[in-house]
Amino acid sequence: MELTEATRKECSKKPAMGFFIQSSRALFARALFLYLVFALTVSTAFADGASGVTNIFKPDGTPARGISNFAMLVLAVCAVIFAIVMGLLVYTVIRFRRRRGDDKNEPPQVYGSNQIELAWTVIPILIVFVLSLVTARTIAEIQNATPPPKALQATVVGHQWWWEIRYPDLGVVTANELHIPVSDPAQPRPTFLKLESADVAHSFWVPQLAGKTDVIPNRDNRMWIDAMTPGTYLGNCAEYCGTQHARMLIRVIVHPPGEFEKWVAAQQGAGANDIQAKGGRDIFLSNSCVNCHTVRGTEANGKFGPDLTHLMSRETLGSGAALNTPEKLRAWVRNPQNLKQGCYMPDMQLTDEEMDQLVRYLLTLN
Ligand code: CUA
Repeated sequence: MELTEATRKECSKKPAMGFFIQSSRALFARALFLYLVFALTVSTAFADGASGVTNIFKPDGTPARGISNFAMLVLAVCAVIFAIVMGLLVYTVIRFRRRRGDDKNEPPQVYGSNQIELAWTVIPILIVFVLSLVTARTIAEIQNATPPPKALQATVVGHQWWWEIRYPDLGVVTANELHIPVSDPAQPRPTFLKLESADVAHSFWVPQLAGKTDVIPNRDNRMWIDAMTPGTYLGNCAEYCGTQHARMLIRVIVHPPGEFEKWVAAQQGAGANDIQAKGGRDIFLSNSCVNCHTVRGTEANGKFGPDLTHLMSRETLGSGAALNTPEKLRAWVRNPQNLKQGCYMPDMQLTDEEMDQLVRYLLTLN
């Protein structure tokens, strides 16, 4: 194609080097800012190790610890390489800089040194070999673990955008909160998870307990966790799965010895049948709520949405979209799209009076 005169003029202009020179101070300020943010993030991550934050630097389970140790080894190896390369580079730049009185001739160019070329071929091969062996060992240790007889079995089903949690041996179904017993290293009590998806690909990730495992339709993936400290561990879906991927949070609640059994006993009961809340219960059962939700002990046995039998025993609504308080519960049912735009729960178009009654009923489901 023929270049027009204007294009040719435009192309022959010098690149705007001035821009880079003038803004080098701004670039430096930006780099400093980014560094400070990074340093702050890392220091908070290391300092705030208590459960309650998603934190890859404070592993508290065997699989997470294996991955973390391996990551630290890779980081250490890379740090040593970085220090050597940068050290040599800085040394060379300073030692061989142009000085006043240098002649303008190019220095002698040296090619070919068998020793140096051998060194920079063999050393990286050795490093990669060692790292691949450690990788294989870490993967094998995590994947080949066999469940001890006392292991808890749970099924986690990823939905757009919430987690269904089933304990097939215990007859318990809940949502968004995985309750497990604490695992004492002397008497390990790990939880083995079967991961299924009801729709698209998700990924189950609780950083303090284990690595990510994809949750894929028509495929059962498996993983296991063993939390060493009672408390709440936060996690999230780690595979983009649609509009509300970011509000597909998971809580793992680790019970101290003896407490898990109490939780199971409470969850095994049917939904509350409080006579005071009969009006709201009738509204719930006569609306399309029942097509999606189950409340054990009633005709409601929908499977599309979370099981509500013990709704009020859970800490959040909408898979972490809001805390489960009476006000938020009302706001959630009034219009779920306000709290979680795009979610599949519709506004039921109830009157204020009906809303009051319905929420009063839901609050009894503890
Ligand atoms: Cu589920 Cu992202």
